[in-house]
Formats: sequence, C-alpha cells, structure tokens
Amino acid sequence: MDTPPGPTPEARAGLSSPTRAPRRPLLRPPGFAGRLHDPRTATAVGRWLGAAFAVCFLTGLVSHFLQEPPAWAAGYLPTRPVWGYRLTQGLHVGVGIAAIVLLFVKLWAVYPRLFVWPPVRSARHALERLSVAVLVTAALFEVLTGLLNIAEWYPWPFPFVPTHYAVAWVVAGSVLLHLALKAPEIRAHWSRGSVGTRALPDEERDGPDRRALLLGMGAAVGAVTVTTVGQSFAPLAPLDLLAPRHPGHGPQGLPVNRTAAAAGVTAVTVRDWRLEVSGPRPYRLTRAELAAWPQHRVRLPLACVEGWSAHAEWTGVRIRELVERAGAPPGSALRVVSLEAAGAYRVMEMGREYVEDPLTLLALRLNGEVLSADHGYPARIIAPNRPGVLQTKWVARLEVR
Ligand code: HEM
Repeated sequence: MDTPPGPTPEARAGLSSPTRAPRRPLLRPPGFAGRLHDPRTATAVGRWLGAAFAVCFLTGLVSHFLQEPPAWAAGYLPTRPVWGYRLTQGLHVGVGIAAIVLLFVKLWAVYPRLFVWPPVRSARHALERLSVAVLVTAALFEVLTGLLNIAEWYPWPFPFVPTHYAVAWVVAGSVLLHLALKAPEIRAHWSRGSVGTRALPDEERDGPDRRALLLGMGAAVGAVTVTTVGQSFAPLAPLDLLAPRHPGHGPQGLPVNRTAAAAGVTAVTVRDWRLEVSGPRPYRLTRAELAAWPQHRVRLPLACVEGWSAHAEWTGVRIRELVERAGAPPGSALRVVSLEAAGAYRVMEMGREYVEDPLTLLALRLNGEVLSADHGYPARIIAPNRPGVLQTKWVARLEVR
C-alpha cells in the first residue's frame, strides 16, 4: 500500500531529526493525520457505495430493457407486477440520490491517496491511476447528470438517456477493476476488528472518530432519502420536501411532465379528433363512439423515468378489443402515434404482451373525470408495468403491426 505523504511518526510525536531536514515536495500536500483516511474507512464506506452502485446499475438495466427491449425479449416483457417499474425506478432514483452522499464521503476518505509521491512509480502504477481517474470521473458524471435530469435541467449538448446508459457500463467495468486491484486491502479491512484472520491491535480498531464518520454518513443518507423518496413511496409523501415532484400535486391529483402546451397540442388540434385504427379492417371513431364501447376501470400506477410515481384509477376501452375489431391476428404488436407535433416519444411501439393484457386501456377518464388536456385528452394509453414515457398521451392513431 502507498503511504500518503504527511508527517512522519517522529514529526507526529513532536520529534525532529537533528541530522536530516525533511525534503519538501514541490506541491505540498495537506498533512493527513488520523484514521479516517485509511483503508478501513475506504472499505467501510466503499461497501455501501458499491451496493448503491450495484442497485442503480441493475435497476437502470431494467429501465433500459423495458424501454428498448432487445429483439429476443420483444413480446415477452413482464406485465406483472403492475407496480414493478414503479419499484425499480423509485429505487434507481432514491438510491442514486443517496449514492451522491456516499460518493463524496468515499472521495473525502481516499483523497490523500491522490497525493502519493512520486505520482507515477511504474507503468503498472500509471495504469492503476488512469483506471482510478476513469472510475471517479464516470461515477461523478453518472450521479450528477442523473440528479440534474430529475430536475429536468439539461445544461449539456449530448442526449441524456444514451449517454447515461453508456457511462453506466464504464462505471460498472471500472468498479470491478477497482475491486480487483484493491482486493488485498478490502479483504484485510472488511471486518471491524480483524485483518484477515488476525485480530487487530487496539489502535487499529474502529474508534469513536470512524464511528462518528460512519454515523454522520448514515444520518446524511437517511435525511436525503426521507425527504425525497416520498415522490414514489406513498407513505413518506408528506415528508417529500426536497424531491422535484410530489406524487399528489398536478392536474387531477397527478403530476405531469410534458404539458399539452409543451407538446403543441391545442384546442384546435383536438377539435375534429377521430381515433384512427389501421389494420386488415381499418376504422375511425369519434370520442363519443369510443365512450359508447364497453368501459373498463383499472387501478394502475403512472411511474416516471425520473423517479416519481403514483397510482390512479383509469377508465377506458381495452386496447385488445380495439385491435380485434381491426381484424388483427392474435399476437399482433401495435404502433401508437400521438398528436404531438414532435418529441422523442411521439411514436411508441407496444409489444403483444401489453396489447393482449386486459389491463391495457385507451383511457378516456382519470380518477372518475374526463382526462384533462395535460393528461392526454382526448385519449391516452395506460398499461401495466411500463415506464411513463411509453404511456402515450393525445393518441391519434393505432397501427396494427
Ligand atoms: C463508485 C465507486 C468507487 C469509487 C468512485 C472509488 C474511489 C476510490 C478512489 C479515488 C480511491 C483512491 C485510489 C488510489 O488508491 O489511488 C479508492 C481507494 C480504495 N477503495 Fe474505492 N471507490 C469505489 C468503490 C469501492 C468499493 C465498492 C470498495 C470496497 C468495498 C472500495 C475500496 C477501496 C479501498 C480499500 C481503497 C484503498 C484505500 C487505501 O489504500 O487507503 N472502493 N477508491
């Protein structure tokens, strides 16, 4: 293990050598006394950080596959539990926010290591340092872009979704490499009172300073979690003070990400609205004709990729029945086109598993009232266990595929 430059044991004890004055490095690093910058602290904090990043990576993959299923999974995505995406994306954002605290504590604990002298000792050491630079940059990029995304602030020129996804793989790879390189230290300092199988001397055991750091970290994680997780975890909604969204705030008691005005949908756009259904036997329906079809009521969550979610009661016509009337063969998939003038989610692909599901509706009403403009009037899609961006609003056309 490298020793970060700092006071020598003699200097710490207040002794100075009469024969040799210590050489001052060019860039004088701070003195790192105390045990909070040691491998035991790095391991204790790293365990939580590693767990948080693992949860974010796995739940991020779930979100990605639900939005862009690979060819082999298309048509076989799970539609149950209906709240599955609500849970995984709530965890992704909740744990991602907590990971910011953990990441900064971890970087604070290890930053003396960044001042090792000489900065590069060998080719292997240079490569190790490069891998740490990639790890830290990618980890900071991931948590900070995620945080700005939930605030809907995009002060960068690149598209958020593909970049966040690609960098997630860089983080995953560099964490694994980091664990492999630090394995001896991690093994040695994994448990509180031992180095491997050997008991630690008293001065190396966890003391009040390290316990205080870890408790402080736990308290900070608890505080940010309790004040943000209510945006998806209903029992804590009253404490939702810091999250950008509150699950009960919005038109008809439900938040809205993209308003009708932002989507360019106006009263004129919907005035002569007809639902078009294409397929072997294409047809068109007015809203009144749709309302005369058998209406079904379902209780399903709207779960946003940005982490907020809420259950609501939706009333409308089963997609399955609309598709059957167009003469679609069993197992057909659907393309749903919105009235939106532009936007990444104007056209949505719906696999056969959602088309056939009796809970998937072309909804006309929300919580007993006619859909408001911002919730997708005249009609919108609601399906079980799907990201909110795929619950297309202002539906204009259903194309059987
Ligand atoms: C995103 C995740 C992580 C980041 C950004 C990170 C960052 C860092 C950095 C910058 C260093 C100093 C590098 C150096 O030695 O030159 C370091 C050291 C270390 N990390 Fe991590 N780390 C992460 C995850 C973990 C995990 C999951 C563990 C273990 C459970 C861990 C255990 C350690 C240990 C034992 C050291 C050596 C500390 C020392 O020798 O003083 N790290 N980490």
